[in-house]
Amino acid sequence: MRVSASILDCDFLKLGQELADVARAGADTIHLDVMDGHFVPNLSYGTPVAAAVRRAVGIPVHTHLMVREPEKMIAWFLPYSDMLVFHVEAAGHTDSCFKMIRDAGKLAGICLNPDTPVTMLEPYVGECDEVLVMSVFPGRGGQQFMPASLERIRSLRALLSGHGSRALVSVDGGVNTENCRDIAGAGADIVVAGSAIFRSRDYAATIRALRCG
Ligand code: DX5
Ligand code: ZN
Repeated sequence: MRVSASILDCDFLKLGQELADVARAGADTIHLDVMDGHFVPNLSYGTPVAAAVRRAVGIPVHTHLMVREPEKMIAWFLPYSDMLVFHVEAAGHTDSCFKMIRDAGKLAGICLNPDTPVTMLEPYVGECDEVLVMSVFPGRGGQQFMPASLERIRSLRALLSGHGSRALVSVDGGVNTENCRDIAGAGADIVVAGSAIFRSRDYAATIRALRCG
């Protein structure tokens, strides 16, 4: 299992140190949660922070756009991201979102809210490198993992295999060292974890546990 560290719950007074620590602790990627106050009822960070994160770490940065009309913001974040993930519920122009990301030579991911049928991504299976399954309603860190997500991960995995897709399945929200084994068992390739890592005392030990062997 790969582990992506969401910095939403890190100590922003020492962002550079937090990024260095989590990279040294073995995180595979940094997960950057961008919120617009419309698609989700919260704001997080914009391009100055994305640029600083990009400068601070050598590991890949995956940007999770929780924004309405992502087609308007993708270009802003492309320079600072290795992968751009946008929500299927939010994109009016899904094809142009994929095209913008591809044309920049970056990886593309699509994300599903907990109440969005997994079949909604069927038309885009061939386009995406990763499918991000939300296991909480997006908008803030530190929420409880929704157990129904396990069945959704299984269905998604079956759907992707049925289409011969090699897209990775990533799970975001409420992931911790207790539920990661079930998440791995359901077929996830990557877990995104924020509070589980940044509220722990030993980032390396937590990341090792999140890998589930
Ligand atoms: C939720 C974000 C998640 C979240 C992860 O809106 O997309 O990435 O911050 O944080 P935890 O692991 O604390 O649920
Ligand atoms: Zn996220």
